[in-house]
Amino acid sequence: MVAVTGDLIQDDSAAAYERFCDLLGDLNLPVYCIPGNHDIRKLMRAALQVPPFHYCASHEANDWLIVGIDSCVSEQAGGSVAKEELARLDATIAASDAANVMVCLHHPPVAMGSKWLDTVGLDNGDEVLARLTKSGKVRLAIFGHVHQTYDADHDGIRIIATPSTCSQFAPGSDEFAIDDKPPAYRRIELHADGSFDNELIWLPHA
Ligand SMILES: [Fe+2]
Repeated sequence: MVAVTGDLIQDDSAAAYERFCDLLGDLNLPVYCIPGNHDIRKLMRAALQVPPFHYCASHEANDWLIVGIDSCVSEQAGGSVAKEELARLDATIAASDAANVMVCLHHPPVAMGSKWLDTVGLDNGDEVLARLTKSGKVRLAIFGHVHQTYDADHDGIRIIATPSTCSQFAPGSDEFAIDDKPPAYRRIELHADGSFDNELIWLPHA
């Protein structure tokens, strides 16, 4: 499956979502999407209502549950996971027999060490991390938004960001700055014993 962690479009148009669906549909894979701060939920949900596309959905396979959650706040670059969304996550995990969980969200649940970027992060990251830890089943959380790589362990949960399929932000920068790195994606392989492999793949510059 393909997991797209938000900011599918930039120009607030239904036509942009149509273009996204045309491009991703050619992969012949299920495409699981969650919104980012640049998405328009109403347009996004409408564009993704028919398979192979899925909006904020969950999927179970190989003793893993994969759950997408919404971390966006309307009209704001920074995010926050609402109480209702955390409750939905808890309920989805409780309803599943899978021993392992991967959570997908747009905003980083941890600080990135970049002054400007951390002002538009996740305002309840600590609460979200505590909730993931409490479940005892979450092994992995992946996010987007930061346009750079991140990979670290927090209380036994691996937290991973994948660079953008567009341009990248300079890591550690105090002010907004574009990096010269090319687009990238990541392959993650989830094993039934709860372990996983991941590989970051940089594409050639266009
Ligand atoms: Fe974003």
